[in-house]
Amino acid sequence: MSSQPTRIPAAWQGVIAHYRKRIQITTAVPPVTLLEGNTPLIPAPALAKSLGGEFELYLKYEGLNPTGSFKDRGMTAAMTQAVADGARAVICASTGNTAASAAAYAARAGLKCVVLVPEGKIAAGKLAGALSYGAQVISINGSFDDGLRMVREAAQQAPIALVNSINPARLQGQKTAAFEICDVLGGAPDWLCLPVGNAGNISAYWLGFKEYHADGVVASRPRLLGAQAAGAAPIVLGHVVEHPETVATAIRIGNPARWHEAATALEESDGHICAVGDDEILAAYRQVAQLEGVFCEPSSAAGLAGIAKGLREGWLDLRGMRVVCVLTGHGLKDPDTAIRLSVAPSIIEPNMVALMKQLKIT
Ligand code: F0G
Repeated sequence: MSSQPTRIPAAWQGVIAHYRKRIQITTAVPPVTLLEGNTPLIPAPALAKSLGGEFELYLKYEGLNPTGSFKDRGMTAAMTQAVADGARAVICASTGNTAASAAAYAARAGLKCVVLVPEGKIAAGKLAGALSYGAQVISINGSFDDGLRMVREAAQQAPIALVNSINPARLQGQKTAAFEICDVLGGAPDWLCLPVGNAGNISAYWLGFKEYHADGVVASRPRLLGAQAAGAAPIVLGHVVEHPETVATAIRIGNPARWHEAATALEESDGHICAVGDDEILAAYRQVAQLEGVFCEPSSAAGLAGIAKGLREGWLDLRGMRVVCVLTGHGLKDPDTAIRLSVAPSIIEPNMVALMKQLKIT
């Protein structure tokens, strides 16, 4: 037996360092990073089989980023740019994940962070994160869309940097997920499926895939399948939703800021956007956990619910294809929904008779 430790080759330095030449933000300051990115692309054969099989399915598990969602990819870029621009404070509106991510990266950068969240509509793990990282959390009696309107104005009236995905640096960071998928697969997938809320992520993925394709890194580009919650589906409906409502609180958005870019991405990729009901989202959420052991938050399962719906209704044909489904946030973000949907644990006395009864062994 060798007594030498095995060195892990080339430690990961975060998405900006890894894709430096492709990230169009400042190079004037070192990246504000928590070593985000490099998330696993997990094969999901059992899930593919339950959906009818005949295609290869992979899960891009973005819940394994430092604050538990894909937002960290964009936030490393936005916060680095903010530091280079001399910002002292940052602000965002959020359904929760952006708030937690902004709070963490602001802490890392030594900046003040203010987040606006919709009162009563943010999952516990996200609020816990934002508060713990030391952000000033302001809860508004309104929607995410109200919050976004307010922070846009605040950034114009006060010296505070806006770090929502209308900030172009955010998309520069988030497009690295497309690069990683191609780098791991050795090419682009046939389809990329993901939930759509404010529409920054679908726009960022498309930027990334287009860039790799234009530079000849990959030979093809995927078709995009976006999924919105039925109660918050402005892009599907073609009009703003005044009072969005869904169990998938992360995507409870009625007027996406990146609507136009998302529509262009869907058109250019010959993609499709669909609406999925809360029951379909929750079914997919439980299925991915129970068939593959991958725990994501409810909103994250919307893309998967979209695949299931498309296959069921016959407008999606995946036979022989390689499909990537993006799971945008970790299941632990929303413990209340997880527990509410599950059978409560049985409570027993601390003795073997009681235990054996539970095991149904007589
Ligand atoms: N999935 C999760 C877990 C999210 O938190 C979000 C967005 C999305 C999907 C949709 O991504 O907005 O780029 O289309 N969350 C934002 C937030 C709005 O404030 O955390 P999108």
